Amino acid sequence: MEEKICKVTIPSLLKKKENREKIVAITSYDYPITKIVEEAGIDLILVGDSLGMVVLGYDNTLPVSMDEMIHHTKAVVRARKKAVIVGDMPFLSYHLSIEQGLENAFRFIKEAGADAIKIEGASPKRLELIRALREAEIPVMGHIGLTPQSILNFGEFKVQGKSREKAKKLIEEALALEQAGVFSIILECIPMELSKIITEKVKVPTIGIGAGPYCDGQILVFHDLVGYLNGYLPKFVKKYADLHNVILNAVEEYIREVKNGKFPLDKHSYHMKPDVLEELEKNFKTEKDS
Ligand code: KIV
Repeated sequence: MEEKICKVTIPSLLKKKENREKIVAITSYDYPITKIVEEAGIDLILVGDSLGMVVLGYDNTLPVSMDEMIHHTKAVVRARKKAVIVGDMPFLSYHLSIEQGLENAFRFIKEAGADAIKIEGASPKRLELIRALREAEIPVMGHIGLTPQSILNFGEFKVQGKSREKAKKLIEEALALEQAGVFSIILECIPMELSKIITEKVKVPTIGIGAGPYCDGQILVFHDLVGYLNGYLPKFVKKYADLHNVILNAVEEYIREVKNGKFPLDKHSYHMKPDVLEELEKNFKTEKDS
């Protein structure tokens, strides 16, 4: 009998909030990792523009292009099983006009096969775009707090919303995003007390990253949680594995074994029939051999 796959949907994510069931999200940028996170039972996969930093080696997310995002989203979608897949609109893919934002969001849905898109910020222009996207039937995830595409204004990656005024502004932004029609809001790097207030105030699920335990769900960058890259990790990351060293040890051993003749062995090699070999050896005998 065919296995029945119960797909996570956007309404089912909202239901999880109602039922106080945590939503578990992760970033993914390619086919094999998506296969694994799907097998593990993840609810939501964000093809984040963080791919610029953890996959493409840029210093921040600003250089990431729409074509790069579409290329990676397509690979993730090919491995989809049941998670909701959200495409992250990169810097300057929605800043010029509503039309530009709509066109690029359509690319995520029609060309790459994503279920929804995410945009950063909650300025009046963003809210107008979110309303236009909702009119066009595109589900939108909001993202406030430490929004990495604002790095030039922030100056550095640091906790947001610590002062009374800034905390108040973030609460207002969350309410405005909900009003504009987002199905969920990422809260990045804000005090846990503030994310508790926001989570209690809005009906849509909040997904935290560096926002403490009171959010309706959590998201981490895949490469951080498995320790893929060997560099600095923010305080809010829990490293569940040390993939960097697993891979390093494997490749070092491979190099050693090739150099000392331990790989490949007979069991890794192919054989030919003895009569074919005999004839070959006869025909290709060199002077040195005779
Ligand atoms: O790009 C990304 O991975 C993100 C998450 C950190 C939420 O926006």
